[in-house]
Amino acid sequence: MSADNGPVAAKIRKYEPGEEQVLYDICLLTGDSGEDASALHRDPDLLGAVYVGPYLRLAPEHALVGVDDEGVAGYVLGAPDTRAFEAECERSWWPPLRARYPVGSFADDTPDDRIVRLIHAPPAASQDVVERYPAHLHIDLLPRFQGRGNGRRLMTALLDGLAAAGAPGVHLGVGTANQRAIGFYRRMGFTEVHTYTHSLIMARPL
Ligand SMILES: CC(C)(COP(=O)(O)OP(=O)(O)OC[C@H]1O[C@@H](n2cnc3c(N)ncnc32)[C@H](O)[C@@H]1OP(=O)(O)O)[C@@H](O)C(=O)NCCC(=O)NCCS
Repeated sequence: MSADNGPVAAKIRKYEPGEEQVLYDICLLTGDSGEDASALHRDPDLLGAVYVGPYLRLAPEHALVGVDDEGVAGYVLGAPDTRAFEAECERSWWPPLRARYPVGSFADDTPDDRIVRLIHAPPAASQDVVERYPAHLHIDLLPRFQGRGNGRRLMTALLDGLAAAGAPGVHLGVGTANQRAIGFYRRMGFTEVHTYTHSLIMARPL
């Protein structure tokens, strides 16, 4: 990798309280199939409220960040038991968000509207997937942190933690438009276990 490709990773460590907003920002900056989704959303925190917030609150021991000399530049978040995580979200994470964002908060079929609908009716992972691969994860790195081995390092550290927590397998969802991430996941040992119109579920044993 060339030396002009941005700063090198300083370290990987557990997320620390107070870093919520920077992780929400990274989620938005990578939220359009790996590209900046800022222009798609009127509310900049909605994506993070679904894909970051509940992990920091409910599974902080599996929230890892990558830090370079400019600060936090990426994260990987996971839950070792997806069914338990879904149940806890239903109990404590979704209700205040549903109150804050009623259905109809945004114009029909806009990206924000679709996320609000997801908050009100979050899809459960399918049973055949959670039986074999009960854990799940999300990973997002800022452009300056990509393509230099940091995804592998963060992923490996998370998988070790999920395995140590007793999970025999892990799954994730990825949009079919995000071919780069799909290539990365394959390289990290994931294979497709479900194909939907616009997304895949990929999984691997631990
Ligand atoms: C996808 C992402 C996490 C990958 O992380 P990364 O740091 O760029 O990947 P790494 O440099 O650690 O690559 C790890 C390995 O995967 C390989 N790889 C990465 N992308 C690949 C691709 N598209 N096809 C094939 N192999 C790929 C690398 O060559 C490397 O192989 P090696 O370690 O065996 O030599 C990162 O690019 C990212 O955050 N993208 C934007 C957000 C995103 O799309 N997140 C996923 C949402 S579902």
